[in-house]
Amino acid sequence: MNSVKISPSILSANFAFLGEQVREAEEAGVDYIHVDVMDGHFVPNITIGPLIVKALRPVTKLPLDVHLMIENPERYIEDFAKAGADIITVHQETCPHLHRSLQQIQNLDVRAGVSINPSTPANTLDEIISEVDLVLVMSVNPGFGGQSYIHSCTAKIQKLREMLDQCGSSADLEVDGGVNVETVNEVIGAGANAFVAGSAVFNDKNSVAENVKLLREKIKNT
Ligand code: DX5
Ligand code: ZN
Repeated sequence: MNSVKISPSILSANFAFLGEQVREAEEAGVDYIHVDVMDGHFVPNITIGPLIVKALRPVTKLPLDVHLMIENPERYIEDFAKAGADIITVHQETCPHLHRSLQQIQNLDVRAGVSINPSTPANTLDEIISEVDLVLVMSVNPGFGGQSYIHSCTAKIQKLREMLDQCGSSADLEVDGGVNVETVNEVIGAGANAFVAGSAVFNDKNSVAENVKLLREKIKNT
């Protein structure tokens, strides 16, 4: 059991061989599979829907960590739950009734996550933090893989770690965007116990197994 969880984002995978890429990641010893869902409204890009989650479900035993970067996510939560999502994360910025949206997820026996953009303060989660199963800190502006880590987000990770500890929560504190061998220790040092890695895991430089090994070694050696 690894204490730091790696959630590779399939956004950077080769979609023509998606099943194989997910299998490779599982064999490399990752913890979750991160699925980035984008609607072309909340974020500029359009990606995938519940069909892909359903197709991936029989391919892996790992939890499917579904990140909804979509407006009105409550309209699609049930579809993603039925498709086999284990964690569904909604954005605070898209949910005027955040408590209701999180309950909707948990009532479907799925772990409920909440995400905040780089410009959204940690204290917008004050009233909800004790109820969530995962907090996803965006360390890039959501929409694309391969962007650079925004260093001002590190203080927010520390703050959220304090908030979770204060209420005795064992929720995952996961960081998403620009996490690679250069930045991973900044993220873990700030108190995250999980991170998403897209382009650092799926790239042309190394195999998935090599990239996961490099990340694990980097965490271990500091
Ligand atoms: C960004 C997505 C991320 C992205 C991460 O909107 O939510 O999950 O795929 O990619 P990297 O790790 O390349 O920044
Ligand atoms: Zn994501």
